[in-house]
Amino acid sequence: MPHADASLVPSTIITKSRFWDHVHSQLEPLLEGQRHWVTNLANACSLIYNSLLAFPAYFGSNDRAVNWCGFYILPSLFPLPRLTTPTSSQPNVSRDKGSLLLGPFCGKPACQLISLQADKAPGVCADAFIHGKTILVRDVNSYPGHIACDGFTNSEIVCPLIYQGQGSGEPLVVGVLDLDCLALSGFDEDDQAGLEKIAELIVRSCDW
Ligand code: SME
Repeated sequence: MPHADASLVPSTIITKSRFWDHVHSQLEPLLEGQRHWVTNLANACSLIYNSLLAFPAYFGSNDRAVNWCGFYILPSLFPLPRLTTPTSSQPNVSRDKGSLLLGPFCGKPACQLISLQADKAPGVCADAFIHGKTILVRDVNSYPGHIACDGFTNSEIVCPLIYQGQGSGEPLVVGVLDLDCLALSGFDEDDQAGLEKIAELIVRSCDW
């Protein structure tokens, strides 16, 4: 099967819970045999985003309502070789541990860094990351500190990516999965349950 066909959604699927089971079952083989998080997160957000767009039952006639799906990741997970030595005029912002860094995504351009400073109202992604819990926002305009990467977004859901580690180590939140919607109340508890299972699958399919 061509990889792109993984995001097709059979017309027999009409409930959200069956939709998320379907996306989960399509994601498993896409992640198989690959442990690099860049590759797996790129395919995961493409699969989720395109499957949502292929599932018109979701938002009635407004089948393009989901306008962004992607990841923000702890910068220390970017072990890229440094080609130049940073100077004082080249601040090392991309490795700032006080922020989350934009990772693979589908949708329009978005903010690169999200501050994790607890003394500010840090936004939905930072709150989900700091508390290690999914945040379901039915109206972003009433969420304190919401960061509007796209002024047309009205609702949002953010799930933490929780790495359970090996042995008795503390679980570590390595990033978040973020989805935005043009509609108010675009996401509900069925989406939360489905996305949390998908977030677990993604985390255990990568080497961190
Ligand atoms: N709204 C998010 C920022 C990321 S964008 O939605 C892509 C937040 O408040 O953290």
